[in-house]
Amino acid sequence: QPFDVAVLVGSLRAGSLNRRVADALAGLAPPAIALSQVAIGDLPLYNPDLETDAPPAAWTRFRERVARADALLFVTPEYNRSVPAALKNALDVGSRPYGKSVFGGKPGAVVSVSPGAIGGFGANHHLRQSLVFLDVPLMQQPEAYLGGADKFFGEDGKLASESTEKFLGKIIHAYADWVARIKA
Ligand code: FNR
Repeated sequence: QPFDVAVLVGSLRAGSLNRRVADALAGLAPPAIALSQVAIGDLPLYNPDLETDAPPAAWTRFRERVARADALLFVTPEYNRSVPAALKNALDVGSRPYGKSVFGGKPGAVVSVSPGAIGGFGANHHLRQSLVFLDVPLMQQPEAYLGGADKFFGEDGKLASESTEKFLGKIIHAYADWVARIKA
């Protein structure tokens, strides 16, 4: 039985480069892990007042899905040098009610993807800041700041360069080793 990896993609748009990278990582993953993307775009903005006996159904769906995952993989763009609001909201939703966070202890990794040269470094590390607090043991190396991502995919939708494919393969294999190590 492979480890169940919940993949959170920080972009909501249909043509998202981040989503395509997440898809490519799933295709390159070794059999020890199975990646599945978890929707975050339908989560109402976190508001403690909604934390009643019947919280928003989308919150419950998200919390239950992440709770049963073995591990977490974040693939995110950078918005204004930080984490997109949709992804931060998903962290806030999953972190509550207090003491019932669904994230704690699950091995994780952060991949940031941008057409720009800095590769989403700011988002990557702001996300790490939250994940340290949420007690997600994060893979440190290899770091994954993927810049120039508008050139990653050819017209056929496949990875256009062998070096990109090699690097994505290296990331996801290292991540699988990380998950196995933390779950051992
Ligand atoms: C961006 N973009 C961007 N890129 C970057 O490298 N650093 C940044 O700070 C920002 N800021 C930013 C803010 C907002 C509101 C948007 C919509 C975009 C550009 C961004 O990297 C680009 O749109 C990517 O294609 C977004 O990722 P997806 O949607 O393709 O996965």
